[in-house]
Amino acid sequence: MKRIWTIMLMVSVLLLLGGCGANEKENNEAADVETLYKNKCLACHGADLQGASAPALTNLSDKYSKDEVYNIILNGVGMMPGKLLSEEETELMTEWLMEK
Ligand code: HEC
Repeated sequence: MKRIWTIMLMVSVLLLLGGCGANEKENNEAADVETLYKNKCLACHGADLQGASAPALTNLSDKYSKDEVYNIILNGVGMMPGKLLSEEETELMTEWLMEK
């Protein structure tokens, strides 16, 4: 009888471990940001961030602090519409763009 409980315990531990997909999600973050960019930003800012009807988004870190970029993306500026992304997505996008 005791053995059954041991097996049950092991099975639930395995299930718990198997349920942790968090790491996988982190690895996909860069790809997710690129998809977001393609869906929400590319039309105006162009492929490869080179600009189109809107300015290029390269070397932003020379021009703005991270907070400034975050605010621009979240709230928009001039002809740039705000609220295109959620706060969490804006955070990811800001970090991604600051490295470009
Ligand atoms: C409808 C067109 C449009 C879309 C969609 C758009 N933008 Fe813009 N964006 C603009 C325009 C126009 C400007 C310039 C605004 C100004 O300075 O008056 C701008 C400016 C910016 C700036 C500041 C650039 C600088 O050099 O001052 C950032 C950063 C930015 N956009 C990021 C984004 C991101 C990230 C997305 C996608 C979530 C996005 N934009 C989607 C039109 C757009």
